[in-house]
Amino acid sequence: MERPVKIACHNLWKIFGPKPTEFLARHDRAPSAADLTAGGYIAAVHDVSFEVFTGEILIIMGLSGSGKSTLVRCLSRLIEPTEGQILFEGQDLLQASETDLIELRRHKMGMVFQHFGLLPHRTVLDNVAFPLEVQGISRPRREERAREMVRLVGLDGREEYYPRELSGGQQQRVGIARSLAVEPEVWFLDEPFSALDPLIRREMQDEFLRLQRLLKKTIVFITHDFAEATRLADRIGIMKDGALIQLCSPEEMITRPADAYVAEFTKDAPRAKLISARTAMTPAGGLVSAEGGVPASAKVEEIAAYVLGRAEPVPVLGDAGEPIGVLGRDAVVEIVFGGPRSLESEKGRGERPTL
Ligand SMILES: Nc1ncnc2c1ncn2[C@@H]1O[C@H](COP(=O)(O)OP(=O)(O)OP(=O)(O)O)[C@@H](O)[C@H]1O
Ligand SMILES: [Mg+2]
Repeated sequence: MERPVKIACHNLWKIFGPKPTEFLARHDRAPSAADLTAGGYIAAVHDVSFEVFTGEILIIMGLSGSGKSTLVRCLSRLIEPTEGQILFEGQDLLQASETDLIELRRHKMGMVFQHFGLLPHRTVLDNVAFPLEVQGISRPRREERAREMVRLVGLDGREEYYPRELSGGQQQRVGIARSLAVEPEVWFLDEPFSALDPLIRREMQDEFLRLQRLLKKTIVFITHDFAEATRLADRIGIMKDGALIQLCSPEEMITRPADAYVAEFTKDAPRAKLISARTAMTPAGGLVSAEGGVPASAKVEEIAAYVLGRAEPVPVLGDAGEPIGVLGRDAVVEIVFGGPRSLESEKGRGERPTL
């Protein structure tokens, strides 16, 4: 089934350097790394094409300097792309007038940045109400809405506090409440939790997931942290030197990384949490009984104890309850612990000197 697309971008480029448009044309829109270096250019976004589906959480990852922030800022034209196309709900964003853009950003886009960007001399309530004030909404209406948002992020009772009286996590909640005040359809978050310590960070992720279940926004979220990405993502996109190397589900990324760079990001991933029985099983053409089977959609973590407790491989059942494969102990052990194969090779290494 085709999923509705909220944002589509085609062959998007952002090149920093003198006269980037001419540079791109001169190199037939395919400059090599050497061309870029020789001319003193940086392709912060390098011929990127992808779609953001309505209602999904799309995570963008990549090393520092790989172009994540530039790409996401291009999507709202906070940074002007050098070339390419961006369709926002089918509307060509690069053709939009400045007024249209301001309207779009004010009404349809919410943004949260790493450094909260709160106004220090305004209270929590006034910070959250600020984008509504910019929209010219009357004080009673904007304060009512702001109170609602403050409650939503769990800060009720602190409406009259100033940012300096709040912890980092609380300040970030204010930033989140503020970005939600305008009821954006698309929510851009650039490393919103990276300044927070691990415990608060986890709390904020839970909070974020709770909000998303409630609000069902379309979200583009940048993070450095693969664990955070796998907790939150529907899909993950990995960037390298401005290019989008791979965009797929977390499960596909850890089972079929496109290259060594992607594999490096995924090496500490909680595999058992992400890999489903469908991926882990050995397919069997209907010769298996369904008895005692596990659903194909179950994650290995959920069924590991069950499979490990059975002498025989367990049937894996498709959506209609029909057996589509079997899952044995070895496959589960491999995913949960890194596998019998690596144990055997360890043993092999240990034994070799005595041979
Ligand atoms: N205004 C600018 N002028 C020139 N180069 C820039 C500009 N902004 C960004 N760059 C370059 O573009 C590249 C991508 O930067 P960007 O900020 O998008 O990276 P990032 O992936 O968000 O990194 P980080 O994880 O550190 O935030 C970097 O090499 C950066 O130096
Ligand atoms: Mg960045």
